[in-house]
Amino acid sequence: MAAASKASKGRKTSGPGTVLVLHGPNLNLLGSREPELYGSATLAEIDSALGALAGELGLAIESFQSNSEGELVTALQSARGRVDGVLVNAAAYTHTSVAIRDAVLALELPVIEVHLSNIHRREEFRHKSLLSDVVDGVVLGFGMDSYLLALRGLAGILAD
Ligand code: DQA
Repeated sequence: MAAASKASKGRKTSGPGTVLVLHGPNLNLLGSREPELYGSATLAEIDSALGALAGELGLAIESFQSNSEGELVTALQSARGRVDGVLVNAAAYTHTSVAIRDAVLALELPVIEVHLSNIHRREEFRHKSLLSDVVDGVVLGFGMDSYLLALRGLAGILAD
């Protein structure tokens, strides 16, 4: 018997596809936080645009923001068998968190890493992502559109 693919392994088995969107620390401040870097859209506006696009793609989204590394790990653990894929902007934890990397590795679901800004054009400490080599795709540098492009990419993986 062929091994189950990563795209099907940990997925929930019925209903429209559900995508967990995880937002890390300080992203609750979007709209007023360094708008020259992150744009003027609030987190609620990003989630609402994602919800609308998800509807067009036959998906549903569930969004969660936390400033706490442990809460983000718990959210990833609880995604397995409950949702079909994950978009994650781990924000500053992208560059530091072995715990979030390990939670992604344990997930066995398609995961796309998202960043509003182009982290490679910024300070050197942001050039390293502990997630990029364990996720299915990375979208960065397009502001709020990074999330929308990532959702389209994930929908393609889920449709395969
Ligand atoms: C970010 C980039 C990170 O370096 C930063 O710590 C963030 C946001 C982005 O979306 O561009 O908080 O993940």
